[in-house]
Amino acid sequence: MSQSNASQSAPLGDPNHAIDLALFGALGDLAMRKLFPALYHLDREGLMPESTRIMGLARQEHDAASFRKMVNEVLQKRLKSNEQDQQSLERFLARLDYLKLDFSSVDGYDAIRQWRKGSPRPMVVYLSVGARIYGDICHHLQASKSLDNESRVVVEKPIGSDLHSSIEINDAIGEVFPESRIYRIDHYLGKETVQNLIALRFANPLFGTQWNQNNISHVEITVAEKVGIEGRWGYFDEAGQLRDMVQNHLLQLLCLIAMDPPSNLDADAIRDEKVKVLKALKPFVGEALGRDVVRGQYIAGNSDGQAVPGYLEEEDANIQSQTETFVAMKTEVANWRWAGVPFYLRTGKRMPEKLSQIVIHFRQQPHYIFDPDQRGIASNKLIIRLQPEEGIALQVLTKDSGLDKGMRLRPGPLHLDFNSAFPKSRIPDAYERLLLEVMKGQQYLFVRRDEIEHAWRWCDQLIDGWKKRDTPPRRYPAGSWGPVASIAMITQDGRSWYEDY
Ligand code: BG6
Repeated sequence: MSQSNASQSAPLGDPNHAIDLALFGALGDLAMRKLFPALYHLDREGLMPESTRIMGLARQEHDAASFRKMVNEVLQKRLKSNEQDQQSLERFLARLDYLKLDFSSVDGYDAIRQWRKGSPRPMVVYLSVGARIYGDICHHLQASKSLDNESRVVVEKPIGSDLHSSIEINDAIGEVFPESRIYRIDHYLGKETVQNLIALRFANPLFGTQWNQNNISHVEITVAEKVGIEGRWGYFDEAGQLRDMVQNHLLQLLCLIAMDPPSNLDADAIRDEKVKVLKALKPFVGEALGRDVVRGQYIAGNSDGQAVPGYLEEEDANIQSQTETFVAMKTEVANWRWAGVPFYLRTGKRMPEKLSQIVIHFRQQPHYIFDPDQRGIASNKLIIRLQPEEGIALQVLTKDSGLDKGMRLRPGPLHLDFNSAFPKSRIPDAYERLLLEVMKGQQYLFVRRDEIEHAWRWCDQLIDGWKKRDTPPRRYPAGSWGPVASIAMITQDGRSWYEDY
């Protein structure tokens, strides 16, 4: 383990941001994979106030010592060697405590009240458990008098599986916590480049004046994953790619691209604008469902040169399943800014690579003066890449160099690669930023109830349409970019999915 100067010299967080964190589901996959590493990083970066305490809650038998040992092992495994240092690690582990609790019974909750007794810090309740028990946990916390007027709750997606179930869950949480103290996570909102979208759009007049249907011809949003289902078949099969990825991550990205400028950076100013976009999304009616939406399911294929099974051959699979692992669609935000501008979205499992990117395609010049045979060269594009390497590129047309080239044009990128532009700064994981905002009590990176419900309303009409049509998803080989129909959907408009960077 290497010793880092960063941690030794870093001050320990603003004392006003100290919290008592009660983490329900502390032994679960999300906690181990994401939350503990993120909390450790906050501590190591000097962003976690000294008095912050973390109570892990789960059903299994453990005590503080065995729980710390387990978290330590996970951190050793997940952190890079230059991210580990003894002093930070010890300080972080010392904050941890453990409580064995049956979440469904109010009996054990008194121990949380005892833990909190006399604490001057607000309690943050993090529910890293299935949404169906969010309501019970909130009510038990209330009944046991573990909460006070400053307590906050953090909840993970998916909140429900349709509008109706999400209303039930939100109602149950809302009976205990006011909206101003509910933090609904969409981890895409914590990604560095997603945040940069706000800076890019609203700090640069260059883009501000161009951002509308007069200047933009179409927008693409791709969130492709190389992985398949990874042992989550049961959960995933009930959800499918539309509920798992579009209802939340892709629609949030779309909102940040399409929203009007908020009057300030307050949570509600931003969220009000996002809700307007969700309300303006065109529903898929009549023929549009067959024409503008493609559902796919992967069959056996290759990933990184290795043969991989199809969705129906994965462990625990039901071979009758018609759940989609891929979806592509052409939608529109029906308002003055965007009328007539298609938004092409696609997302899938078992694609050739992990790639999340947004491409804004600007219109051609109205009057063209260069070589007629170069007219087809695509005009400006703004490419915002979220992963794998985060960065922003603006494709511009310049003169091709060389005496023999005359005024021939050549497209080339103006490139901002975050890793090389800011080589010393580590790009924090989305959960670090989100947890920090929860500690500060700031909500702008979290999703408000009405956003979730409008997103469900839009997805529900799509799901209902699919049910009525009852057509099976189109097959695509693992390791490909999805069903051929998803490529045809965009090429029939004279365009193609952007693949260079
Ligand atoms: C989650 C989905 O919300 O996002 C997963 O449930 C998906 O199915 C994951 O794999 C993708 O997140 P990221 O940050 O790896 O793009």
